[in-house]
Amino acid sequence: MLETVHVDLPGRAYDVRIGPNLLAQAGTHVSPLVSRPKVAVITDETVGALHLATLEQGLSAAGIAMQALYLPAGEATKCWEQLERCVDWLLDQQVERRDVVVAFGGGVIGDLVGFAAAILRRGVRFVQIPTSLLAQVDSSVGGKTGINARQGKNLIGAFHQPSLVLADTAVLGTLEPRDFLAGYGEVVKYGLLGDSDFFEWLETQGPALAAGDMTTRIEAVRRSVQMKADIVVRDETEQGDRALLNLGHTFGHALETATGYSDRLLHGEGVAIGCALAFELSARLGLCAQEEPSRVRAHLRTMGMKTDLSDIEGDLPDAAGLLTLMGQDKKVVDGQLRFILARGIGQAFVSSDVPSDVVLGVLSDALRDR
Ligand code: GLY
Repeated sequence: MLETVHVDLPGRAYDVRIGPNLLAQAGTHVSPLVSRPKVAVITDETVGALHLATLEQGLSAAGIAMQALYLPAGEATKCWEQLERCVDWLLDQQVERRDVVVAFGGGVIGDLVGFAAAILRRGVRFVQIPTSLLAQVDSSVGGKTGINARQGKNLIGAFHQPSLVLADTAVLGTLEPRDFLAGYGEVVKYGLLGDSDFFEWLETQGPALAAGDMTTRIEAVRRSVQMKADIVVRDETEQGDRALLNLGHTFGHALETATGYSDRLLHGEGVAIGCALAFELSARLGLCAQEEPSRVRAHLRTMGMKTDLSDIEGDLPDAAGLLTLMGQDKKVVDGQLRFILARGIGQAFVSSDVPSDVVLGVLSDALRDR
C-alpha cells in the first residue's frame, strides 16, 4: 500500500511516500539520508503525546537515535519566539550541516521547523513527517517554510525543500473530524483548480474517505500530492503557475485574519469557503456558469464542511473591511490584488484584473446571507 510521488526538482529532488504505518518504518526510509545515526525531531505537544513513541521505535529499529523538542500546538506557535527556541535547541543538540532535522506534526510544525532548518548553519536538510491531512496534501510538499508576522500570515520565510516526506495515512485516523475536514478543503482545491475528474471522484468517494476508508484516503493524498509536485516542478518560487495553489486563499486569508487565526475558522475551512467565493466571483465575472459555484457548495455541504460566511460564528468586518484585509495578501503585486479565478471546475487561472466593485458585491451578498 505504499505510493510514491517524486518531486523532480533539479538538484533537490525528493520522494513523498504515502501509506499506512510509515511511522513504524521511519528508520528504513530515513537511514539513507543520515550521515550519523541520530536525528533531531521537533513536534508539538498533541502530536508528540499521540505518536512520538511510535516514531522513536520506527527510527530505533534502524539504529537511529532521536532527541525531541515539544512545542505548543496551534497557529500561534508560528512566531519569532518559537523560531528562536527551535534554532537554539538545534544548536544545543549540535546539529551539523550533514545532519537531518525532522518536522513531525501538522502545517504549523512543518512551516516553522522547515524555516529553522533553512536558516540553521545556512541550511540543513530536513524530513517532513506530516500528521494532518492538510500538511500531507499541501504544506509538507514544495518547500514553502516560514512564520506569521503581526501584519499577516506567512509573511516571513524561505523556500527550502525537504529531503523526504513521509505521509503516514494511518495517523489521519487520530484527527478530530473537524481537523480532517479542514484538510479536505485543500484536497477539494486540487480538483477545483486543475482536475475536474478528480473533483467528480471526490463527489462520489468523499464520504467514504471521511469515514476512514484507507484505499480512498491514500488515493486522495496521492493525487493531491502529484498535482502539487507537478506544479512545484514547473514553478518552484511562484513566479507563475504555483499561484494556482492559492485558489480560495485570497478570500480565506482575509477571513482567517478577521477571525484572529482562532478556532472560529481553521485554515482549511477558510480555503473551502474561499474556493466557493472564488467560483462565485468567477460566475459574476461571466467566466463560468452559475451552476459551478452551486456545485462546489453542494459538495462542501454534503461533506458537512463550512461553506458560506454564515457558517462562521461571531462578527465579521463589512465587505470593505474584508477587502482591506485581502490587501495584506502576499499575492498583491504593485498594489493590485491577484485572484485565482476559474472558467469551470478544474480550469483555474491567475488574474490581476478583477474590478474591486465586483469583489465587494460578492462579499456584501455573502455577508447579507449571514
Ligand atoms: N500552499 C501553497 C503552495 O505551497 O504554494
